[in-house]
Order: sequence, then structure tokens, then C-alpha cells
Amino acid sequence: MQTAPAPLHAARTAGNRIILDDGRELIDAVSSWWTAAHGYNHPHIVMTMEKQLHDMPHVMFGGLIHKPAEQLAARLATLLPGPLNRVFFADSGSVSVEVALKMAVQFWINQGDRKRNQFLSFHDGYHGDTLAAMSVTDPDEGMHALFRGYLPEQIIAPLPRDNATGAEFGLLLETHKEEIAAIIIEPLVQCAGGMKMHDPEVLKTVADAARDAGVLLICDEIAVNFGRTGTLFAYTQADVAPDIICLGKALTGGAINLAATVSTSDVFGAFLSDDPDAALMHGPTYMANPLACAAANASIDLFETEPRLQQASAIEKQLERELTPLAHVPGVVEIRVKGAVGAVEVFDLHNLDWLKAQFVDAGVWLRPFGNVIYTMPPLTVTPSELTSITSAMAEILPRWAERK
Ligand SMILES: Cc1ncc(COP(=O)(O)O)c(C=O)c1O
Repeated sequence: MQTAPAPLHAARTAGNRIILDDGRELIDAVSSWWTAAHGYNHPHIVMTMEKQLHDMPHVMFGGLIHKPAEQLAARLATLLPGPLNRVFFADSGSVSVEVALKMAVQFWINQGDRKRNQFLSFHDGYHGDTLAAMSVTDPDEGMHALFRGYLPEQIIAPLPRDNATGAEFGLLLETHKEEIAAIIIEPLVQCAGGMKMHDPEVLKTVADAARDAGVLLICDEIAVNFGRTGTLFAYTQADVAPDIICLGKALTGGAINLAATVSTSDVFGAFLSDDPDAALMHGPTYMANPLACAAANASIDLFETEPRLQQASAIEKQLERELTPLAHVPGVVEIRVKGAVGAVEVFDLHNLDWLKAQFVDAGVWLRPFGNVIYTMPPLTVTPSELTSITSAMAEILPRWAERK
């Protein structure tokens, strides 16, 4: 608070833009933290929410159930291939990760195995800001390093990308497999850890190893679900079958908060018992909020009726074309593109506030962090809006490099 520049006043949103109090319009290059898949204020989402607001904005989800949640659970179960068909609704991504971790530990406890109270996760991973979610996040990442000693110690491995990292990952898993409840991974793109990308084969290696070691696999799709990597869910690009998956962010098309932890019927089966202690004890007050479930149903309607996945693949091609030339700018380490994610990694993100202000002056809302200058635009971004984003990068980056 002491050193941060004053935030800008957002007055309203429309299409792929944020309109400020002073009338300036910014193209949103980051979809409000990767949520606004259909841009803002899509009439179908707004109308559905308005109707739901009048019928029932909220009702508790204990002893009561309602149509928006029932419908959404059924639709998610249909959209997710395989036996992922048991849905727990949470109110944020971090909470859905907490639930997934708790579910994995209790899955084993309910079967009499109390030793499995650790997780294997990956360098550069990010799973949220609550305490257990922080513990499976890269320990050297940002603020989380401050809490070392307070957070549970997990097993953090490199992603098995080659022989050396494969051997290290394999050894860690083999050594600890009796204590591990689950492996947790962000499929294909580790977003908050720096937009690091891996091939589906890497995910497949992890999934096969989890299966061979007899531990559960949790795919945290919160940042990449609903089309971001070109498919509705990123993990479906590899031939893998997660036991639990976490959904969030674009689940409601960015209109309101909602997340879900979805498990297979096998995982669910371990909680079905006459013994009340076998139940999953977790109940966020606003779980399955009807307004949020209605927004998510409307967002899924749009994935069914509008060409979002084709738009994601067109964005990928345009990003490849327009970002690749930036590889020659001094200070740039690598250009990475996957679906509607484009990242320019730099050696050192100096003059960060200056850089952000330059993008605002260019009419683009873009928020570099770590050592990446990246875009994750709404899937509805138009080709010319996307060119405005990449042109701003091309124009600003060399000037930024000179300031060093
Ligand atoms: C992969 C991943 N998991 C979990 C989270 C946490 O979600 P939330 O911010 O909704 O708590 C994030 C947020 O960026 C994320 O990218």
C-alpha cells in the first residue's frame, strides 16, 4: 500500500473492454485474471443472472438443493470425459483446491490408510492463496516463501520434461509413495508461476506415474478450464484420467465467483458410508450460490452455441505470428504461446510500474508479473483488438529494454 501506484477507477465494462471513470477505454488483455471468456456483460449471461436474481439470489445448500446447481452439476459431469461425475461447489479456486486436498487425504483415511498426508506438486506450480493451497505451490514463489515452517511441508518435484527431471521426479515419487495422498498439477500451463508451458506428454508421464505408484491425481484446471488452451479442458489433450479436478475462474464466464471440485465415482465411493465420520466435512456458506450456478449454466450455453474453441485456436495462430518477432528485443528470453495464452519471458522485469502505465497509455490493460509480459485475452477478442495488444507490446518493449 505504501509504494503501489494508485489504482485506476473502473466505471463499467463492455465487450472486451474496461471503461474508466475518466472515459478512457482499455482493451482487457488479461480477461480480469483469466475469467472473462466471453468478454464482459454478455447479454445471455446478464439476462440469465437477472432472472435468477429475481427468483432466488441465494439459499443455503444444506438440506436444500436447487435447479441451477443440479443442472450445472449434470452438465459438468457430461462435459468432463470419463467417470468425473461428482461435483462439490466452492466459492473460489483456492477453496476448491483445499477441498480437493482434503478429499484426497480423507479418501485414504476412509480406507484405513492414515499415513498418506502429503502431496507431490511441481516447481513453478500455483494453486491458490489459502494455507494448504500455498503449501503445494512453488515454495520460492512470491510471498509464500515467508511462510516456510508454518505451512505443511510437501514434496515439490520438477516436471518430468527430460531424462534428468524425469529421474528426479521418479525418485521423489518412489521414495515417498507410501506417504503421498495425491499428485497435484496444473495441466499444460503453469500460469501464475510464470506462464510456463509443457507438452501433453509431460502430463501423461505424471499421470502414468501416479497410477503406477497408486496415488491419486488432481488436475487443477482453474486457470485453463473453458477453452483457454484450445480445448474445453486442458487435460483432455493428454490421454489421462484424473481422479479429482478443480474448476473455477472462467466457469461463470467471469461474471461472478464460483469454483468446483469434481471427483470420480470411485473417489466418491470412499465417502459413502453409514458412518457419519466418513462424510466429507466441508461447507462454504455460499456454496452452490444459485446466481453463480445460473451464470455458469449460461456460460456453458455460450460454449455450446458460439465458436469459442475456434476463436481460441485463431488467437493462438495470431499470437504466434505477432509475438514471435519480439524474440529479438534485448532482454527477451523466450516467447511462449499455447491456445489463448501468449507470454514474453524477460530476464528481469525492471521498471514494472512504468511498464504497466505505458500499456494503459496505449489503451491496453496488461499486467506483467514475475518475469513475464503476457496476454490471456477474452476468447471473444477481435483480431484487431488482439493486434492492438501485440502492437502495444512490440512498441513498448524496446523502449522498456532501453531504460535498464
Ligand atoms: C491454477 C490455479 N489454481 C488456483 C487458483 C486460486 O483461485 P482463486 O484466486 O479463485 O482462489 C488460481 C488463481 O490464480 C490458479 O491460477
